[in-house]
Amino acid sequence: TDLDTFIAGLPKAELHLHIEGSLEPELMFALAARNGVTIPFASVEEVRAAYDFSNLQDFLDIYYAGAQVLLTRQDFHDLAAAYFARVAADGVVHAEIMFDPQTHTDRGVAFAEVIEGLLSAMAVAEAEHGITSSLILSFLRHLSEDAAFATLAEAEPWLDRITAVGLDSSELGHPPEKFARVFAAAREKGLKITAHAGEEGPPDYVHQALDVLGVDRIDHGNRALEDPALIERLAREGMTLTVCPLSNHKLCVVDDLADHPIDAMLARGLKATINSDDPAYFGGYVADNYRAVATARGLDRAALARLARNSFTGSFLPEEAVAAHL
Ligand code: HPA
Ligand code: ZN
Repeated sequence: TDLDTFIAGLPKAELHLHIEGSLEPELMFALAARNGVTIPFASVEEVRAAYDFSNLQDFLDIYYAGAQVLLTRQDFHDLAAAYFARVAADGVVHAEIMFDPQTHTDRGVAFAEVIEGLLSAMAVAEAEHGITSSLILSFLRHLSEDAAFATLAEAEPWLDRITAVGLDSSELGHPPEKFARVFAAAREKGLKITAHAGEEGPPDYVHQALDVLGVDRIDHGNRALEDPALIERLAREGMTLTVCPLSNHKLCVVDDLADHPIDAMLARGLKATINSDDPAYFGGYVADNYRAVATARGLDRAALARLARNSFTGSFLPEEAVAAHL
């Protein structure tokens, strides 16, 4: 079989996906029209041309602007349904989806509209595509810890439908320790914990995610490679890293995909996985990310299969469900 067929045929879990980042320009225009929202672009081509980022903040500014077209439960349903339909073709059988409630509640959209729309699409995905999924509520780190506490309180009626909490948005200047108390509260409620760390932030932010937040996995983690003792620790603890190659390239975390450290991570014993992050903005879904590193770094099929296997052992699925996927 050719490489594309091999990759699509590998059953895989996606562990690092911001559902708002799966908003394709075509759907953005359709929702803008449906909701009477004005967007600062004349065409789908103009939107795509704007996706030329020099760092994380550059991207975030456009990502938050795009999210303004999402208003109703139906919008969130349509957004997630489009994601699931797309990744069914990529061999995704399980997805742990991050959503950013504050991006919506701060615009007056009710938390219930966001989560009920996502949950209904998740039910359809399981029925129609056989894809299981769960939700990760991500706090925006450029906002205060009090705002994160308020979001956790709003989520209270749905806590049995939320698997984990995460931490995303502008990393530099917003270290994990800023959120120590709210993550402790989330853990008390039985939620798993993940956090973006070491995407643009220094290795110390990865240390803080481990020691202060007590994370169950690390989103990105690239800059951990600057700290040999940290690499050793992550390997020893079997900590999963949710790596996003096309995102890393688009956001200039790596200058060139040919320099991507995915194989260095595996060689150092790190439990790396491959994910899409914000596929509509970074030019590819999860199978595109596998293909990109396979081509740029010459990964063989055994390495690709290892990465797919890591996506299940690094998931928040119960042990029996993980075993059923291996
Ligand atoms: N990093 C931080 N915040 C984000 C990202 C990311 O890659 N995508 C969406 N929010
Ligand atoms: Zn991310």
